[in-house]
Amino acid sequence: MDRKILSLLAFAWLFVLSLTHAIAIDHLTIFDNTLDNVHDGKFLGARDLTLQQAIAKGTLLEKAMEKSGAEAQVVVSSIRNGVPLNSPFTSYSDLERWGWEEQGPDSEEEDDLYHGSLDQTFSQLGIDECQNEYVSWMQENAVQNDNGQTIQPSYGQYSNSFNGYNGLIISDDNNSPASLAPNQRRVPLENWSDVVFLQWLKSCENAGTNIDSLRYVMRWNPTNGDTQGILSRVLAGVPISRLKVGVALNKGTSGYRALLGTPNGRGAAWMLIQHKRQFGLKTIPQIMVRAVWFQNKWTLVMIQSIGNVSS
Ligand SMILES: *[C@@H]1O[C@H](CO)[C@@H](O)[C@H](O)[C@H]1NC(C)=O
Repeated sequence: MDRKILSLLAFAWLFVLSLTHAIAIDHLTIFDNTLDNVHDGKFLGARDLTLQQAIAKGTLLEKAMEKSGAEAQVVVSSIRNGVPLNSPFTSYSDLERWGWEEQGPDSEEEDDLYHGSLDQTFSQLGIDECQNEYVSWMQENAVQNDNGQTIQPSYGQYSNSFNGYNGLIISDDNNSPASLAPNQRRVPLENWSDVVFLQWLKSCENAGTNIDSLRYVMRWNPTNGDTQGILSRVLAGVPISRLKVGVALNKGTSGYRALLGTPNGRGAAWMLIQHKRQFGLKTIPQIMVRAVWFQNKWTLVMIQSIGNVSS
């Protein structure tokens, strides 16, 4: 055979090899354990949230966002007995009351936290990244509850970005008091949904915008085992080329409900459910999952759109 043809064939073969290799790697690097971790309907590495449980939780949260008044309270009580429909935490000063302290700027608070990996996402969503403000709260002061009992600090910490100008919250690094101090007496103002709501209040006040101008809650790089387990199940087999564009799951579908029911999906739903008086009747019409290239690996971002409940 002609030398030229031979080398051309060899070249073509190498090219095909490199392509298939790239695709195989694409699939496997979403999480270290994608597709390898399903065992008896549960996920190894996840704590214990099954797909069916996530869908069931998400279905109820979806319903609780859409209902108001007594109907909403019934749904909320069916999810968590004893939880009031309306959060009692509505004033920014509640943070101080319950021992939360805003942390000073640290090295994490760079101008470009995501190293450009979200540039395209921000421009598509109409977000001016320069207006994102990274705010970190830590529950680090001992306080007395209304019965005069002392509550020791839990050192729970919620670190998130807020953009009151463009209607965006980015959930970044969150460790709840309940996860850090499960067995001690804790402050009642302890959930992501309440702490983040109060900071959102402040960010809107600073920006001169209304609370109900919230358009997106983004979850950057979910690392919670339960969330990752459900994500890898919902996204099983979806190639990176699709994830780069973004996979959109609409309200009413099982995939949407499963993601809404994950630990990282629930927070935004609870914030809307328990602050209907401030937000009006809002829901999450769509959850989009997208893969972005960050520090030499594919990183997932979950983008929850916020919209009015259509009557
Ligand atoms: C807030 O967190 C605590 C502890 O995890 C939990 O018992 C409570 O039900 C949560 N409230 C809501 C509204 O999720």
